[in-house]
Amino acid sequence: MVDAIRTLDDRSQLDFVLGLRKRWSGTLYPALRREFESETAARGLEVDDPKQAMPVMHDLPLYPWFSWMERGQQKMMWRAVSDAVERHWPELRAQIEQLPDSPKGGLELDPELELPDWYTAYDIHVQPGGVWSDDSSAFVYEEGAKVVMLRENDEYLFHRLLVETAVPAGPHERIVDVGCGFGKSTRPFADIFPEAEVWGLDLSAPCLKLAHVQAEQLDKRIYFRQADARSTGFDGDSVDVVSGTMVLHEMPPEAVRDVLMESARILRPGGVVRFLEFAVTGDAFRDATVYEHGDRNNEPFIPMLFDADVEGFCREAGLVNPRWLPFDERGRGVDIEDRPERDEWHFPWAVLAAEKPE
Ligand SMILES: C[S@@+](CC[C@H](N)C(=O)[O-])C[C@H]1O[C@@H](n2cnc3c(N)ncnc32)[C@H](O)[C@@H]1O
Repeated sequence: MVDAIRTLDDRSQLDFVLGLRKRWSGTLYPALRREFESETAARGLEVDDPKQAMPVMHDLPLYPWFSWMERGQQKMMWRAVSDAVERHWPELRAQIEQLPDSPKGGLELDPELELPDWYTAYDIHVQPGGVWSDDSSAFVYEEGAKVVMLRENDEYLFHRLLVETAVPAGPHERIVDVGCGFGKSTRPFADIFPEAEVWGLDLSAPCLKLAHVQAEQLDKRIYFRQADARSTGFDGDSVDVVSGTMVLHEMPPEAVRDVLMESARILRPGGVVRFLEFAVTGDAFRDATVYEHGDRNNEPFIPMLFDADVEGFCREAGLVNPRWLPFDERGRGVDIEDRPERDEWHFPWAVLAAEKPE
């Protein structure tokens, strides 16, 4: 694969924005928390709800800087990545234009697929044009996502940990990863369950083209399909695992409910859903900043997901034992009792797990 970030110019711009993001998460966030704790102590406030924490947080001296940096560094990051992709676009484009002759897996695009309004109405993650509007957007997203994860997930560790720690041991016949993006959440399924027919589904044709080319170059047998997670095109009772990583928070609650209905429909009896997501942690200050991350990062459905009764949606769909499992993305996956203590801002990872009765 030709790398989008390879000249000194590309790297230095990316390093600069990575430095800003680290400062925001590792310095500003803990400093804002200290101000918050002093303020609540001085006012004798017991704050155990994020919505109660927000107005207190808004009055803190560091808050404007913290919130500006959150959005400002994200916008700068996309500018830097888009510039690099544009500089190398002829070589990058050539890769997705030459689809492999005899692929191990496959790619099904649907030019007639209607993208939902809630998907196209805003630039997700502040990425201009989102991840779907033209072929370069997938390359931009791939590089940007590395910075968003502070370059701690370049080897896609947390994607692998989901599969290693949260998915029942196989053999599985068919596994479906919905909202697969450019395929980084799908590849570990193909590695760990080589016997299975592994599918990645997404609304974005640009992401799927990149996913397909990369999977073939890495010699992985994965089938990609352009489809809405609410209407996957699979027969009922034909799938062992329905998974998704960071996809539920990108849709309104009624669509999340529909995705869980569709998952329950296609699962075989005894099949499982495993969605790696974000969930409230019970730490009012931290949760308040994640609610607001949704607003500042153009992810309007994060707060709605936090407020929705997702376990209730699972039950309504006929799934049993719905639960949120805290997830340690740095090494232990779901094999933890509680979230690890950490000072810096980081995503509140959790796995939504449920089963279809036998
Ligand atoms: C944050 S990305 C995550 C991509 C990938 N799972 C990963 O972990 O890198 C969310 C993806 O979900 C896709 N998506 C959002 N809503 C969808 C839906 N209803 N059906 C299928 N894909 C969807 C988006 O196009 C995007 O590629």
